[in-house]
Amino acid sequence: MSHSANAAALSRASSNGLDKVVAAETALSHVDGEAGRLIIAGYDLEALVATHDFEATAALLWATAGLDPAPDADTVRAELGAARVAASHLVPVLLAATKGLTITEGLRAGLSLLPDDDASGKPAHIRAVGAVPVFVAALCRREAGEAAVAPNAADGHAADFLRMLRGVPGSAAEVEALNAYLVTVTDHGMNASTFTGRVIASTRAGLISSVVGALCALKGPLHGGAPGPVLDMLDAIGTRDNIKPWLVSEISKGERLMGFGHRVYKVRDPRADVFNKAVMLLTNGNERVRFARDVEQVALATLKEMKPDQRLDTNMEYYTAVLLEALGIPRSAVTAVFALSRIAGWSAHVIEQERVGRLIRPASTYVGHWPDDQAA
Ligand code: ACO
Repeated sequence: MSHSANAAALSRASSNGLDKVVAAETALSHVDGEAGRLIIAGYDLEALVATHDFEATAALLWATAGLDPAPDADTVRAELGAARVAASHLVPVLLAATKGLTITEGLRAGLSLLPDDDASGKPAHIRAVGAVPVFVAALCRREAGEAAVAPNAADGHAADFLRMLRGVPGSAAEVEALNAYLVTVTDHGMNASTFTGRVIASTRAGLISSVVGALCALKGPLHGGAPGPVLDMLDAIGTRDNIKPWLVSEISKGERLMGFGHRVYKVRDPRADVFNKAVMLLTNGNERVRFARDVEQVALATLKEMKPDQRLDTNMEYYTAVLLEALGIPRSAVTAVFALSRIAGWSAHVIEQERVGRLIRPASTYVGHWPDDQAA
């Protein structure tokens, strides 16, 4: 094949964002974007949410990744409680080192305080997952001018996070809604952050290094950084009369509507439905939720009119934003709260990748000058 034909063939894969390129085999999750179906470790999403809390889902993912011995939910519950307490000793260092950083940047710094290999022998996946709610709650409280609240090892992960965040326990309905959110977003195929984590894991850099890299990938607005902008969009629209003109104006300017479109789902993201249900239970369909639903309906119709060649539907970030807002989670923290869950999936992928043991090292397309072309 000539240089240019070779380059053209390879660039089809690289220029389109590696769509449909299979980068790994995994037993952890499967996304069927045409059917709007998400399977996590053998469960349809809706069944998983109905039967598992966050700790049980983490145990399931780690067992599925091949952790030996396979952990059960109660062991994970106890280990995560102890890991939250251990991480709380790092909070003063974290707060001193992260002044002026956003919550996600603060979390990035916090995770980086953890060694890949710990002298205590505590496994890295437990230390990492246990640390996130402690760090995120402390960073949020600092932002609000309040002192950090110590973890309680006996609480569940979701309940302890809500209490550390607000200083008072959440209601049973709030804990249930947060668990539904955390379970739903634990894993989602070969998304950008998971892929990043697996690439780092394949170099044998260690689990903490891998999840720090994954968090960096999650931070961008095209991945996990969208829910904050969804709320900004709802605020900017403001009134029902302004919905259509605002959306038309944004799309005409070439802007993207946050919370719509997905690389894989070409129908409604099944996770949006789980969150929609959870938020309805929590808020009893209050005005904010009704407004968000109205904006969603007009946005879908407007995208169909103005982008007729694209299949753009609601993605999970849309109702994530509304759900987390109803739980009192500050807008600045939604990406970090996403990481609070997804780190269970990332760590399972790291464990699975480490068992594969082979360096991920794809090819690239050279589009520069060739010495022999220059000479001709
Ligand atoms: N609003 C308006 N137009 C959109 C949107 C949107 N939300 N999403 C895609 N498009 C348009 C693009 O402008 C482009 O149109 P054009 O061909 O006329 O220029 C076309 O659809 C294809 O866009 P791509 O960028 O090729 O699609 P891709 O598969 O890369 O995009 C993505 C997926 C990044 C999620 C995109 O839909 C987007 O930016 N959405 C808004 C941000 C968002 O909601 N992010 C959260 C994603 S969910 C998650 O990561 C957990």
